[in-house]
Amino acid sequence: MIQKIRAIFHERLGGEPFMVRSPGRVNLIGEHTDYNEGFVLPATIDKSIILAVAPRNDDLCRMYSADFDQSFETTLDSLGRSELKWPDYLLGVVDQLLKYGAALRGFDVAFGGNIPIASGLSSSAAIEAGLAFALNTIFHLQIDTLTLVKLAHMAENEFVGVRCGIMDQFVNLFGKEHRLLRLDCRSLEFEYVPFERSDIRIVLCDTQVKRELASTEYNIRRQQCETGVTVLQKHYGSIHSLRDVSLDTLQRHREEFDPTVYRRCEYVICENARVLEACNDLRRADLSEFGRKMFESHTGLRDNYEVSCSELDLFVEIASHVPGVLGARMMGAGFGGCTINLVEESRIQEFGRIVTETYRKQFGKDVAFYIMNIKSGTAAERQEKVRSYQM
Ligand code: GLA
Repeated sequence: MIQKIRAIFHERLGGEPFMVRSPGRVNLIGEHTDYNEGFVLPATIDKSIILAVAPRNDDLCRMYSADFDQSFETTLDSLGRSELKWPDYLLGVVDQLLKYGAALRGFDVAFGGNIPIASGLSSSAAIEAGLAFALNTIFHLQIDTLTLVKLAHMAENEFVGVRCGIMDQFVNLFGKEHRLLRLDCRSLEFEYVPFERSDIRIVLCDTQVKRELASTEYNIRRQQCETGVTVLQKHYGSIHSLRDVSLDTLQRHREEFDPTVYRRCEYVICENARVLEACNDLRRADLSEFGRKMFESHTGLRDNYEVSCSELDLFVEIASHVPGVLGARMMGAGFGGCTINLVEESRIQEFGRIVTETYRKQFGKDVAFYIMNIKSGTAAERQEKVRSYQM
């Protein structure tokens, strides 16, 4: 894929690019908790976007998406949202870097990869954080990694218009091989948690339902959580986010809540507690208990947070009956995309067969399976490290 994107760059844009691999991510547990200042447990994977980027001497920005076979160009002083949509993920980063005061010039970029789009594997953060990393390198901006995370995150919030949390951009730039990353989304302190059981694999089942509702409903969920916080703030001035609320406190004020808002808050509070307990399970190498919490997480996402769909529910339901599946739940924003499953290596085939047959029978659709390996976060392609861009 590296060679392919490099060749496309040569052909379409010309010159010698700096090559970056920017991965997608999985999230083991801790869904819709990041924008509530809670905890998440993601990891970067071996599905990536490859970006080929080179600086220019004028302020033209030329972009080519290999997956869409589309080009787009603009100048640094006329950034605006594009009808093609995909350029917004790149333009948003440029916009943030300029606001930050970075000394940017124009650039050429060609990119493409194998992260399925709109499947909950965060291809958008891979584009944003990957470009932020590339521009930081080729223009010698010397911006530290945490600031790059924040700029990429703001690009999605302000330019693309999805008020996402910081999980995806954070893990994209800080992810590490064979490690999950336990992130406190309030303090941004993090810890690497080993995940090295070769007999148990992370398997994604892709419903191939594209998450059309996701961005609108996502912003609505976020709003509902904020409404819940406002209700409690009348009583407790110290509450800043749902992170500060115990289940007890929530229950005590139940009658003051709109029932939907109440269920949203209940889910978030329970999920936060689950992430912390699940990390303890991992430390004790108790993957059965960890898996049980994944199922609980799905139940909360389905019934209280209401971000699942019948295809995802079916996959989790099947997983709960197949021997050797330790845990399963929907992953990412929801309304389609993938479930994440922990499956004993020897049972993967059997699991795949049952899901495929049942899905076909009930929905007349095909499922796509991905067996994931945990790889490092965004980085220059190895041979690039010796290139002059790094000097
Ligand atoms: C999307 C967002 C993340 C996070 C998840 C849900 O992936 O980009 O910030 O909120 O949904 O956990």
